Amino acid sequence: MSLVVFPFKGEDPETVLHNVRIAASHRRVSRVLTVGAERDETFRALGSEGPSLRRETGTPLDVILQERIGRKRPGKGDAMNTALRWFLAETDLQRIHFYDADMLSFTADWITHAEESADLGFPVVRHYFPRATTDAMITFLIARTGFALLWPKSELPWIEQPLGGELLLTRPVAERLVAEERVQAQSDWGIDTVYTFTTVRYGFATYETYRREGKLHKLYGKLADLRTMLVECFAAIQELAENHLEPSPPAGPVQMIPGGIVHRVEPHLQVPLQIIEKVGFDFEGTLALLLDGWNPRLEPLVEWFPPAIRDGLLENRSRPCFNFMGEREWAQAYRVLLDRFQPGDRDWEEILFKLWTARVLNYTVSVALRGYGYARQYRHNTIVRYLQEAAGAGPATDRISDEL
Ligand code: DGY
Repeated sequence: MSLVVFPFKGEDPETVLHNVRIAASHRRVSRVLTVGAERDETFRALGSEGPSLRRETGTPLDVILQERIGRKRPGKGDAMNTALRWFLAETDLQRIHFYDADMLSFTADWITHAEESADLGFPVVRHYFPRATTDAMITFLIARTGFALLWPKSELPWIEQPLGGELLLTRPVAERLVAEERVQAQSDWGIDTVYTFTTVRYGFATYETYRREGKLHKLYGKLADLRTMLVECFAAIQELAENHLEPSPPAGPVQMIPGGIVHRVEPHLQVPLQIIEKVGFDFEGTLALLLDGWNPRLEPLVEWFPPAIRDGLLENRSRPCFNFMGEREWAQAYRVLLDRFQPGDRDWEEILFKLWTARVLNYTVSVALRGYGYARQYRHNTIVRYLQEAAGAGPATDRISDEL
C-alpha cells in the first residue's frame, strides 16, 4: 500500500480537495498527506475536510506544514523532504507518490499507472507527458542540457522530465534521499534536479510512464515568472558539478531490476491538440525583459563570454536581440556560467536570465514555430549532439548546428 503526497502553496482549495479525494479513494492508497507552505485558506479547508473524507473513503488525510530542513530558500524542497521524513517516520508503507496539488487533469489512472510500473520492479517511477512546444524551457535548457554537458555517459540526459513533480519512490529510495545531506539541504526549486541526480547516481532503475493527457495546470505569462526557478535549478546543477559527483553508483548494491535494466521509457504516442496548439508564454512581454535591468555592473560580467555572445547580449541595451543565441552558443554560455555564475549575486542572476531568455526566444522563432513534431525532434537531437560533444565524439563546431 502507498502514501500519496500533495505539496501545496497558495493553490485553489477546490482543486486540491478534488485531487486529494481521488487519491484517498484509490484502492492502492492507504494514507494521503498534504504539505502546506503556510496556514493558508487551502490548509484550513483540508483540515476541516479530513474527518468526512475519512468516513467516505476509509483513508486518513494528514495536513501538515513543511519543516525548515534545508539551507537554500525555503520552498518546494523543504515540502518534499518533509514528506519523505514523515513517510519514513509515521508509516511502514513501501511506496510514496508525489503529485502537484494544482493539477487539473489528475485522475486515479495516474496512481494506477505508477503502481503498475513499480510492480515491474522499478524503484523510481516518473510520469512524463507532452508539453507545449515553448513550455519546459528550464527542463530543456537547464536540466537536460546540463546533464548532457556534464554527465554525458550517464542515464541523466535521457530522462524525459527530470524536473517533473509527479513521481513514485519506493522506501529504499526515500531512505537514501533522506540520508543524503545534499538532498536535504536543497530546500528550493533545485529539489527535482537533486532527486533525479541522486536516484541515478545510486543506480535506482527508473521507469517513465507516458501520460497522454498531460498536466493541465496554471501556465506562466512572461518568462520572468520562471526566473526564481531558473536560477535555483541552474545553481543546483552548478553545485553538483562543482563537487565532481560522478553519477555512477558508489560501492554497494545497485537497485537495478532483474535483467540489468536501468531506465525504461514508454513511447511518446498521441498528443492532444490542446497541447500541440498551445502557446507557452507572452512573447511581446518577454522581449521587453531583454532591454530591462541593465546596469554598469553587468558589463564586466559579459566580458567572460565568447565575443559573439558578449556582443549580442550588449546589443540588448538598445534593442531586443536574440539571433545570436543558437544551440552552439547556448552550450558555450552554459559552460562559462558553470565556471563563473554566483548564486545570490543579482547581477549574475540577471545575466543568466538574459542569456536564457535570448535562447528561449531564438528557439521559439527558429524551431517552435515549425510545429510540435519538429520541435520535439529538435530538442531530442540537441541533447544528443551535446552529449556526444561532451563525451568527446569530436569538435562541437563540426557537428552542432541548429539543423536537425
Ligand atoms: C520547466 O521548464 O519544466 C518548467 O516547469 C517551466 O515550464
